[in-house]
Amino acid sequence: MPGDAGMAWGKLLKMGCKEALGDAYDPVETSSRDALAALQLKRMQWSLAHAYRNVEPVRRKFEAAGAHPDDLKSLGDLAKFPFTTKGDLRDAYPFGLFAVPRNQIIRLHASSGTTGKPTVVGYTRADLDMWANVMARSIFAAGGRPGDLVHNSNGYGLFTGGLGFHYGAERLGCTVIPMSGGQTEKQVQLIGDFGPKIICCTPTYLLTLADGFAEQGIDPAATSLKLALAGGEPCTREMRAVIESRMALDVMECYGLSEIIGPGVAMECLETRDGPTIWEDHFYPEIIDPSTGEVLPDGEFGELVITSLTKEALPVVRYRTRDLTRLLPGAARTMRRLDKLAGRSDDMLIIRGVNVFPSQIEELILKSPALAPHYVIEVTRPRHMDEIEVQVEMSPEAGNSGEAAQRQAAAELQHHIKSFIGISARVRVVPTASIERPVGKARRVVDRRAR
Ligand code: DLL
Repeated sequence: MPGDAGMAWGKLLKMGCKEALGDAYDPVETSSRDALAALQLKRMQWSLAHAYRNVEPVRRKFEAAGAHPDDLKSLGDLAKFPFTTKGDLRDAYPFGLFAVPRNQIIRLHASSGTTGKPTVVGYTRADLDMWANVMARSIFAAGGRPGDLVHNSNGYGLFTGGLGFHYGAERLGCTVIPMSGGQTEKQVQLIGDFGPKIICCTPTYLLTLADGFAEQGIDPAATSLKLALAGGEPCTREMRAVIESRMALDVMECYGLSEIIGPGVAMECLETRDGPTIWEDHFYPEIIDPSTGEVLPDGEFGELVITSLTKEALPVVRYRTRDLTRLLPGAARTMRRLDKLAGRSDDMLIIRGVNVFPSQIEELILKSPALAPHYVIEVTRPRHMDEIEVQVEMSPEAGNSGEAAQRQAAAELQHHIKSFIGISARVRVVPTASIERPVGKARRVVDRRAR
């Protein structure tokens, strides 16, 4: 049965044994769209009224926009309400947007921003209970079952990844190994000794771990791991394919952000593996045109905006995630899915007028067998002109083929960047293992242009 650690998951899927994966964790995941919409409306009315009544800055914002929670008669009416941004959280630092007295908040988390103070989020007991449930649901949807061993390499601490997966896996009835990030040698040893089926971490940490296995003379494809629940940062399809073939496991995408709850906002389902299903009974998604704020129909690309429907401590109305994607119809569940995130609007580099996402460069790097998926993009502006340099490692297989091979790989990537993206980039191919390995989220872009 699915809890069997020896089961070949990929093969199971290819055989079309959907029924062997079992039902959804929670019946709401497959309720009809009409029933879901009715639940969403009821919860949204509660959430908006709760925020309006108890959070002074929200009340002022609603009033300035001429919007009152009583005006919400249908889900479409949400468009009349103002957005919440990271700036609003920063202005209210640390606790100004909490909707309950501080002594009812039993946990805080925080995410570091690119500037200044972190964004602080709080949870009541009921919020933590809901979070554990959506995480248990997520792990189940991805193929986890009670009794499975779960190795959690997400950082424990202010980052929501560690404790989010931890309590979700416990709620589902798994055995959790609370490893946290770093200490790769030790992680390799414990994975070998304990034999977990599931690992939770960022996609880039999977690469670091695969290197860690190889360094210890262990084939990364020969471990007990069958499923990686990966998220917290973008991962192109090409990167995912590289990880899956190196480690012989299925990488399942998890999406979330601390302002909304942490991981567990959306999770890919093993039956279909076609983008994360949004747990719409708790998190209501919209896609907007990032420049006008206008709501776009499902299927169109834009910025993801999320409204929390059940959160007590920090209800968020129309939070602008800055993540660029589109909404797709439900597949394995009735709830809608997210398409692969194209990037964040604030990650987009504008290089001499051309919009460039790091993921576009990553796709091209991964097309070259001579290059490894470890890279850093540096942007400078030496003489009032943007310059971009891509540093990328030689792949271990091509590692010893000499300087001429490095130069050739660099020239090829430069050519591909010019022809596919339309910018002139300097490419420096560096020796294998010379770029620093991240413990958590990778920092792909170093922007040295004066602001
Ligand atoms: O990264 C929560 C999380 C932890 C999600 C572990 C999944 C797994 P923050 O630190 O607040 O929260 O960062 C949130 O990370 O707005 C996205 O830009 C990015 N992100 C998260 N998941 C994905 C994903 C956690 N699957 C920010 N694909 C988000 C691409 C992702 N980007």
